[in-house]
Amino acid sequence: MAIRIRPTRDQAEFASAVGAIGHYFGGAFSSEDSLVNFARTLPFERMHGAFDGPAIVGGAGVFPFELTVPGGPVACAGVTVVGVLPTHRRRGILDRMMRAQLADVRERGEPLAALWASEETIYGRFGYGMASQDVMIKASRGHAALRTELPGRTGTTRLVGHDEAAKVFPRIYDRVRRASPGFVSRTDAWWEVRKLDDRPERRRGGGELNRLLLEIDGRPVGYALYRIKLEWDGPHNVSQVVVVEAIGETPAATRELWRYLLGIDWVAEIHCDLLGVDHPLFLLVQRPNRLHWRVLDGLWLRLVDVGAALSARAVTGDGRVTFEIASDPIFPDNVGVWTIEAGVAKRSRRRADLRLDMQALASAYLGGFTFAELARAGRVEEVVRGGVARADALYRVDVKPWCPEIF
Ligand SMILES: CC(C)(COP(=O)(O)OP(=O)(O)OC[C@H]1O[C@@H](n2cnc3c(N)ncnc32)[C@H](O)[C@@H]1OP(=O)(O)O)[C@@H](O)C(=O)NCCC(=O)NCCS
Repeated sequence: MAIRIRPTRDQAEFASAVGAIGHYFGGAFSSEDSLVNFARTLPFERMHGAFDGPAIVGGAGVFPFELTVPGGPVACAGVTVVGVLPTHRRRGILDRMMRAQLADVRERGEPLAALWASEETIYGRFGYGMASQDVMIKASRGHAALRTELPGRTGTTRLVGHDEAAKVFPRIYDRVRRASPGFVSRTDAWWEVRKLDDRPERRRGGGELNRLLLEIDGRPVGYALYRIKLEWDGPHNVSQVVVVEAIGETPAATRELWRYLLGIDWVAEIHCDLLGVDHPLFLLVQRPNRLHWRVLDGLWLRLVDVGAALSARAVTGDGRVTFEIASDPIFPDNVGVWTIEAGVAKRSRRRADLRLDMQALASAYLGGFTFAELARAGRVEEVVRGGVARADALYRVDVKPWCPEIF
């Protein structure tokens, strides 16, 4: 029977479509509770299902949120819960779902789509490029001190209850995320369901959720969410502090949060999976190697509407650059020559400075990679001498993109 792809219309369809990826997570989303909670963050109509007759055999969803890019927040489709049941794999169902989803994203006027990839080989064919990296640390507690030359401890830290966290943390996060490329917006439901829900099934072997508030001069300027995972090796305590996220509004706030997290007694290691690749922590500690860091791919990005996306992205100075987009596997109207002048992207007849594809453009868009880096990897072709330098001057960023949450 032919497979049909369309958005889900009710809770039962939604449950089956989300169930496709749930299968690979050992039945996640199969409880009524987790499904109802999930539906608070992802509307039915943003969930596509693949129907084989009445049975749903695949699904792909979108969180409608904003992604901060250099210049500010932009509407973005947060692609998530993509899965095809093993009974129906490699028959082109993912391909059709991705196309239907991107068409829908474009129709809704969202210039960007972003995702975390389970495997790096899946999404390039749909025009997604690796746009940020993230760093995972497993710091050894015995060697994790901050540099002694730093200013002494400042501010006060308090462990707060759920309600105070739900009131104060989102405000801090929101101030930081609006100015931080790679961050995504969060609704109240998102906070409740994804960040502050501490039912035992959410703990993944860790202890209870600790909610730390940092105040400096009486003002809330940072918070951390962390768990302690208790572990023994014979008589030795080899527990870990598992940092869910630590967000400071200022350099001093970031420093004080990490002073606290690295200093918790009676643990062996401090783990954090999602730090920005240029996070200040690496310059704050005495022994960066003892953080045992590992760099991984972070956010994958897709410019759905090249003109709108490039015009929304701030540039530095009043230079001009012309790109030739050589190919787009989904949207032929993104292909062609685009000039960016005074921060606005327009179709153009000029000679291109650079030739590149959609994946390479996505890799440069948030500032995760420079055009020079892409050129060195053969991912960008310099057509006019000096074109790479011109593009890099225009797209220069002071901070690398950082997405502190896997969605
Ligand atoms: C990944 C997944 C969704 C693919 O679904 P699918 O319907 O089998 O994929 P399709 O048949 O549409 O494949 C489309 C193309 O992608 C390729 N592809 C699919 N899955 C791939 C994978 N995991 N790695 C590399 N390439 C893959 C196919 O070979 C095909 O390429 P081709 O057109 O050149 O032959 C499915 O295998 C799955 O559910 N995996 C487990 C969950 C998962 O990883 N989800 C992604 C979450 S981010």
